[in-house]
Amino acid sequence: MACPDSEPSEFFRVREGLLLEAGRLGPVLDLACGYGRHSLAAARLGLPVLALDRDEEVLRALQRIAPPLVQCVRTDLETGFDIPVAPASCGAVLVFRFLFRPLVQAIAEALRPGGLLLYETFTTHQRKLGQGPRNPAFLLEPNELPSLFGSLRPIAYEELVTEGPHPAALARLAARRRS
Ligand SMILES: C[S@@+](CC[C@H](N)C(=O)[O-])C[C@H]1O[C@@H](n2cnc3c(N)ncnc32)[C@H](O)[C@@H]1O
Repeated sequence: MACPDSEPSEFFRVREGLLLEAGRLGPVLDLACGYGRHSLAAARLGLPVLALDRDEEVLRALQRIAPPLVQCVRTDLETGFDIPVAPASCGAVLVFRFLFRPLVQAIAEALRPGGLLLYETFTTHQRKLGQGPRNPAFLLEPNELPSLFGSLRPIAYEELVTEGPHPAALARLAARRRS
C-alpha cells in the first residue's frame, strides 16, 4: 500500500542542500515513490526526477499533479536484481519506506561517483509498535542498512522511533558513492 503522507520526511528536508548539489551530477531516482512526496520535493528544487512504482493508481495520481520534471514509470522492482536505469547515471537515489534487499547492489551502482543515497525505512522494532509492516522481508535489523551499503561512504546514520499518532521505527542512511 502506498504511503499517504504528503510531506517529505524530515530526514529528506534537512538534506535538501546535499540533494541539490548531487542533482548536478544527474537525475534523481525515487524508488517505490508512492504518491511522490519526495519526487515532488526534489522537483521543487529544480531537479529532474525518475519516479518508479508498481502501483498504477498512485503513479496516475502523481502524474496528474507533477511538473514535467517528474517522469513516472510503472515498474515492479521485485522481479530481479535490477533497476531500469544505466549504471552510474543518477545524481541521487531516494528510497523511503521500501525494502527489497536483492536491489542493494543495483541501487549503489546506479549512482554516479559522488552521487547521494538517501534511504529511510522500517526496522524490526516496528513490530513492537503494533502497526505497520511485520514481515521480516520489509524490516531492517539494527545496523543492517549501513552494512548493506558498505560500498558507499556514509554521511549520516540513525535509528529512531518517531512520535505522533503513527509512530514509526526507522533507520536512516545518507551516503555517497565513492569517487
Ligand atoms: C509505504 S509506500 C512508500 C512510498 C514513498 N516512498 C513514500 O515514502 O511516501 C511503499 C511503496 O512501495 C511501492 N512498492 C511496493 N512493492 C513494490 C515493487 N515490487 N515495485 C515497485 N514499487 C513497489 C508501493 O506501491 C508503495 O507505493
